[in-house]
Amino acid sequence: MPRDALVAAAERWGTPLYVTDLDAASVAANAWRSALPDALVAYAVKANPDPLLLRRLADEGHGCEVVGPVELALALRAGFPPGRIVVNGVGQTDADLADALASGGLVNAESLGALDALLRAGGNGRIGLRINPALDAATHPHLATGAAASKFGIALDELPAALERLHRAGTPLASIGAHIGSAIADPEPFGRLAILLAGLAKEAGAERIDLGGGFDGEPEAVASAMRPHLPDLARVTVEPGRSIVAPAGWLLTRVVRAQARGHLIADAGMTELLRPMLYGARHPVTVLEPGTSAAARTWTLSGPICEAGDVLARDLEVVAGEGALLAIGEVGAYGLAMSSSYNGRLRPAQAVIDGGELRLSRRRETLEDLVARDT
Ligand code: LLP
Repeated sequence: MPRDALVAAAERWGTPLYVTDLDAASVAANAWRSALPDALVAYAVKANPDPLLLRRLADEGHGCEVVGPVELALALRAGFPPGRIVVNGVGQTDADLADALASGGLVNAESLGALDALLRAGGNGRIGLRINPALDAATHPHLATGAAASKFGIALDELPAALERLHRAGTPLASIGAHIGSAIADPEPFGRLAILLAGLAKEAGAERIDLGGGFDGEPEAVASAMRPHLPDLARVTVEPGRSIVAPAGWLLTRVVRAQARGHLIADAGMTELLRPMLYGARHPVTVLEPGTSAAARTWTLSGPICEAGDVLARDLEVVAGEGALLAIGEVGAYGLAMSSSYNGRLRPAQAVIDGGELRLSRRRETLEDLVARDT
């Protein structure tokens, strides 16, 4: 943990503050590249769309995966070449799909309806299929996307119809892929997915295989489960998000009140970090400064929001008191990205560590920002 940089960032820009270590994210993205040489590493923008992070990954030659038109626009602004962008989304309108195709990205159809819309928009050899692999992986139920009953992807029994439509239109299949879920710690389901997709790609004559994202751990662990089944890595895409940025991000927060009954009330809560409340996620908390009248006890770290479930961490055994500066770790993915303005909260500033230097990448939201769209 870059402790000194985090303390300096909190002093400079105040709290709550998100800090993403671009140097660490870059190392993790390159670990994917080493584990699967020649594959397209398409960073999942939804995990953390920090503009300086996107720019850094684009500059280093990676690709990205986006969901919907706004993420696509952010990716293009950051400098990702369209040829390295994969567009997903189960609810894209016909217009979204046509625009995505026009951008030059590879667009995955997740339903026969979406495929028809893409074919009407002209195809151009950049159409892929995201299938539903009917493959269960052990994770939180909210994060499992590969099971047959989930809303994602073209069902295996619809695949022949999809291929028939492409064939009739004379359009080659650019990619066949799936995304089985997120926060999956076991590499084994990815081996099964590779076997399934390699077989389908051969049958369907697909140019690429897209294994999606979802792996939580060292890229080499999942790569070694998949590699034996993937003869030509130059035709493989992966879409990692969490494994690139989760360990590279911290939420810095200060304790506003310490209650005798054991709650530390922080200046960040579920509006800045929803994961503990939504998934029961546990994030490590480090005390950077203990504050005044710090006491050693088992604390509950709560936020300032008017919800009893607004808890960031439970059973926290730390020495802390009012004014304490805390760093919540493993929040580089799906932390800031899922923040909201509930309870009139202004979205926190975002800073990065880039080449060892601190830089502000987006200032804190202001009341003026919040009311700017009022008519
Ligand atoms: N590809 C697709 C099509 C996806 O839907 C996702 C994530 C990824 C790639 C990247 O998955 P990753 O490697 O980051 O696990 N909000 C949740 C995570 C939701 C993930 C949604 N899709 C969380 O906070 O854990």
